[in-house]
Amino acid sequence: MSNEQQPFRGESTRAVHDGEERNKFARSLTNPIAQTSTYIFEDLDEFADYKAGKLKHFEYGRYGNPTVRTAERKLAALEGGEEALLFPTGMGAVTSVLLAMLRQGQHVVFMEDCYRRTVQFCKLIQKFGVESTAVAPGDWQALEAAIRPTTRILFAESPTNPHLHVVDLERLVPFARERRLKVLIDSTFATPVNQRPLEFGVDLVIHSATKYLGGHNDLMAGSVCGGAAIIAAIKDFRNVIGSNLDPQSAYLLIRGLKTLALRVERQNRTALHLAQFLEGHAKIERVYYPGLPSHPDYAVATRQLRGFGGVVSFDVAGDLERTRNFVHALRLPFLAPSLGGVESLVSHPATISYYDLAAEDRQAIGIKDQLVRYSVGIEDEEELLADLEQALGQI
Ligand SMILES: Cc1ncc(COP(=O)(O)O)c(C=O)c1O
Repeated sequence: MSNEQQPFRGESTRAVHDGEERNKFARSLTNPIAQTSTYIFEDLDEFADYKAGKLKHFEYGRYGNPTVRTAERKLAALEGGEEALLFPTGMGAVTSVLLAMLRQGQHVVFMEDCYRRTVQFCKLIQKFGVESTAVAPGDWQALEAAIRPTTRILFAESPTNPHLHVVDLERLVPFARERRLKVLIDSTFATPVNQRPLEFGVDLVIHSATKYLGGHNDLMAGSVCGGAAIIAAIKDFRNVIGSNLDPQSAYLLIRGLKTLALRVERQNRTALHLAQFLEGHAKIERVYYPGLPSHPDYAVATRQLRGFGGVVSFDVAGDLERTRNFVHALRLPFLAPSLGGVESLVSHPATISYYDLAAEDRQAIGIKDQLVRYSVGIEDEEELLADLEQALGQI
């Protein structure tokens, strides 16, 4: 039996087999968890060979772990990148990557509808002498105006949370190339099943692997994927700051990734049907879903995405009280932050994510009191629809 990796092409085949050796420890079928903090060397010559790059070997847990490495290789294969790195959380990935790539006096431009902690970090990084400017999504004039001679990075999320804006990568990447900027895309909401930013020329793709990649609401992880040279530089930085993933979570991530395509295809289908149902309902004022022609980014989404994702956001017709009643009347989804797992989750962004903003400030960024974010799980579509119908019937 060969231990070589085969060049598998199909997405689901890659998800199951890529990144793993065929012959594993003790002929185990699944990838073992290497629960170790350090690795042994036969003698000092072996250590010297390893340091000289003549020998593949692990050295110390902060610099790498075989289970984590397998998960990284699998992720790189799915994303179509040369290399990937894992971090203990999505924010661990965002902060480590930005800190590794930027230095004092440089400037980053970020889209203002990024995940709120990413926005917070892009402001916080100013205390290290890195400048930052927020730009509204789709405002190309503001983007142009924001670029400075010191700008190095464009950071965007696509699709965004909670309004599911889709950044036009066919336009953004040439814009950045002309200005010698690196483009970083947080593709958490899309997953490599629906969107592969590297194919559009994006430099680095970031994920909160806590969401769809893990897929079972049972782990926290973050990832970055891209070219070997840039990832090697980020890895050197990770070796210093110690933001490496643990092997237990890496094992769960490997397991989750194997069913990624199955789960996401199901979630795409169900979410589209839920979005269509909600859009036709008299008690719903507006639905935000990039697979609906009513979404402002529908044209970009149909060109760029292979599926529209498992999150549907919508405004309930009425006020805060009516929206609260609707959320409380839902029986199937759990009320919880996060998204992307097998369990459907519902969130009320004004209360759960933007509680610290005044109502006017929330309104200014489109977070209405009536906004609900629904992360579709893998439950039966008819039951999710019936549950929505009964909850809307109660308000
Ligand atoms: C788009 C996006 N990026 C990054 C993060 C941060 O990920 P984590 O919670 O795994 O740190 C989140 C979390 O909700 C997110 O939604």
